[in-house]
Amino acid sequence: MSDKLELNKRAEFLSPPDGVETLRPEPNSLFENNPVRLSVLRALEGRSILSVKDFTREEVIEIAKLAAILENFEIAPYHIMDGKIVTTAFFEASTRTRLSFESAVLRLDGKVLSIPEGGVTGVRKGESLDDIGMMFNAYCDMVIMRHTETDSLERLTKGLRVPLINAGNGSGEHPTQSLADWYALLKWRPKLAETDPSKRSKKLCLGILGTPGSMRAVKSFLLMSLMFQDRISKVIVISQMADPFGEDLVTELEKAGIQYKVTNNMKKYVPKLDVIYMNSIAFLGDSYKNLDAEFQLNKESELKEEAVILHPLARLSELDKSLDDTAHNLYFSQAHGAVFVRQALLIAISGRLDRLPKEIPVVD
Ligand code: CP
Repeated sequence: MSDKLELNKRAEFLSPPDGVETLRPEPNSLFENNPVRLSVLRALEGRSILSVKDFTREEVIEIAKLAAILENFEIAPYHIMDGKIVTTAFFEASTRTRLSFESAVLRLDGKVLSIPEGGVTGVRKGESLDDIGMMFNAYCDMVIMRHTETDSLERLTKGLRVPLINAGNGSGEHPTQSLADWYALLKWRPKLAETDPSKRSKKLCLGILGTPGSMRAVKSFLLMSLMFQDRISKVIVISQMADPFGEDLVTELEKAGIQYKVTNNMKKYVPKLDVIYMNSIAFLGDSYKNLDAEFQLNKESELKEEAVILHPLARLSELDKSLDDTAHNLYFSQAHGAVFVRQALLIAISGRLDRLPKEIPVVD
């Protein structure tokens, strides 16, 4: 690879301090000897992303590979999104999603129109989302929206003609969170992206501590995991609900032909898991509630030695801070990687792949 490209110095901040075991897998193995396939990413140009189902597995892998390059090299001098304006319309609170999207745009030299909460828009005076969507067409090239209501996407898109990225719709979905989740997993086990079956590693037993039907990040993670069903031996869902899925998800699980089990016996099943995805914030009725809070992990929990924990954050009592400085902690890598994976997606949707530096490993 050309030595004209500088290493991304910001990535140094993502390394754990000396003496701390926390996992921050290197991005290099995702793209070394494995160039990004631009033709796969070009298919995303101008597209909206409302659900994980708007991606193919190939697209997820190529987005992760491009994200790994963006994490590794300094691309600020290439001004990739120069001239593009992105609106972040957040009608519900966020720490990571809005700020990581805005950071991603600004570090690519795009501009941001930021709505940090719905009360600063005409919604406060009774304006409809349909009308707001129509206004966005005149102001920006792309919209990233979070909303408390699951049907908000359909309402906004009635008038919207620029691409929309769903940043979380009630108990619906959070598809770019799943990109961050799977980017962390693919860096941790690059063989999960392997297309040659003879080079694949052992299948993973994947556990979910939470209720996918009521937790959008968990639901999207499960849907994206189904794309990788041939790398997963079993999905174990540990939930306080007897039916934690809802009809749609059961159909998807059965279509994928994946083995799954629902239980509330955390003590029995946690020691069997290779990957644990957890959350406790659920959308129930018309507000957010703490669900499955009885399923808590801490440093003393009986985890497999190599097991990793993913959590979309914000965390409550389910994920104890004593795990932060252990090699089970993949959740900080997951949060930090979100900027790069969102940059990769934004570049592809904006049709700016041709502005990437010529030295990076790509093929058409
Ligand atoms: N993971 C996630 O969606 O975090 P925020 O709610 O802070 O955006």
